[in-house]
Amino acid sequence: MKAPCLTYAGNAEECECRRVYDAVSAVPLKIKILRRMAMALPRFYRPWVLALFFLVFTCLASAQPQQGAGGYQPEEGQSGKDVVWIPTEDVLVDIMLNMANVTGKDYVVDLGSGDGRLVIAAAKRGARALGVEYNPQMVELSKKNAVLHGVADKVQFIHADLFDVDFSQATVVTMFLLDELNLKLRPRLLDMKPGTRVVSNTFMMGEWKPDQIGSVPAERKCAYYCFASLWIVPAKVEGTWKLGSRELTLEQRFQMISGELKSGARVEPIKEGVLKGDQISFIAGETHYTGRVDGNRMQGKLTSGKKSTGWSAQRVGYALK
Ligand SMILES: C[S@@+](CC[C@H](N)C(=O)[O-])C[C@H]1O[C@@H](n2cnc3c(N)ncnc32)[C@H](O)[C@@H]1O
Repeated sequence: MKAPCLTYAGNAEECECRRVYDAVSAVPLKIKILRRMAMALPRFYRPWVLALFFLVFTCLASAQPQQGAGGYQPEEGQSGKDVVWIPTEDVLVDIMLNMANVTGKDYVVDLGSGDGRLVIAAAKRGARALGVEYNPQMVELSKKNAVLHGVADKVQFIHADLFDVDFSQATVVTMFLLDELNLKLRPRLLDMKPGTRVVSNTFMMGEWKPDQIGSVPAERKCAYYCFASLWIVPAKVEGTWKLGSRELTLEQRFQMISGELKSGARVEPIKEGVLKGDQISFIAGETHYTGRVDGNRMQGKLTSGKKSTGWSAQRVGYALK
C-alpha cells in the first residue's frame, strides 16, 4: 500500500520508497548479529540457516512499513494543531541543512518536527538537535526513528506547542509551517543572536526577504513543496553612530540598511547597505565599508580607490520607533 501523497512534494513511488527506507534502516545491524549467531553453528548447517534468516528478514522488512517504526503509522495530511503533517522530502531536508551549513557546532531546532527527519538528519551531521511537536504519537515515533538511525544521544524530542517553547539558544531553526505562522514567529526569530540561520520549507517571512533560496533539482521531478528559503538573523544597527569625527545614521529594514554619513556640511547617502548576520557592508561616497557589528560597536576595513584602512564606530543613539 502506498502512502497518500495529496499535496505533498514527490510522486507516488517516492512515497512508498521512503516508507520502506525507514523500516529497513535497522535491518543491517540485525543481520550482523544473526550472522554471528549462525557462525556458531556447525559448518554444514550455516548456508541453510543463513538462507532462512534472509527469508525471514525479507518478509519482516516488507511487513514493517505497514506498522511504522513503532507501530504507529502517520498519514500524510493528518491534522496538527496549527498545520497538518506533511513530511519534507529527504532531498529537500539535505538542501535545507546545506543552506544553513549545519555542522557539529550547531544546535538545530525544528519547530513542528513531525516524524523527526530534519532533527535526525541534523544529528547525523554531528549537530545537537531538538524537535518540538504537538502530536505526542509523532514525538514517540521520532524518538524511535532516532534510535533506528543511531542518533538518540544527540537529539531530543518534546511534546509541546512550538509557540510556547524557548528556542532562543538555537543556532539553526528549521520549519515547514505556513506563511502566517512564520510571520507570528518572525519577531522572536529577529531577536535571536545575529548569524542564526532560519530555514523554511516553502513558506516565507513577509517583507523579510530570504538571503538565499534553494530548490530540488529538476531531475528529481518534485511537484510540491520543492524549495526552501534561508534567512540569516541580522545584527541590529539602527541608530546614530560616531565614526571617527563623522556621524553615521542608519535605518534598518531586516537585513537592508540605508541612511547617511555626515562630515561637517558634507552628507553622503548610504548605498548598498546590507547585513549578513553580524557582517555589515555599505558604500558612502566612493568608500566601501565592511566590518563586524558587536552590540554598540562595529569595526572593519574601508576601501577607497586602491587604499584600505581600518575603521570603527560606536553607537551613540537609538532611532525612535
Ligand atoms: C508540515 S509538518 C512538517 C514536519 C517536519 N518539520 C518536516 O519538515 O518533515 C508540520 C508539523 O507541525 C506540527 N504542528 C502543528 N502545529 C504545531 C504546534 N502549534 N506546535 C508544535 N507542532 C505543531 C504538526 O503536527 C506537523 O507534524
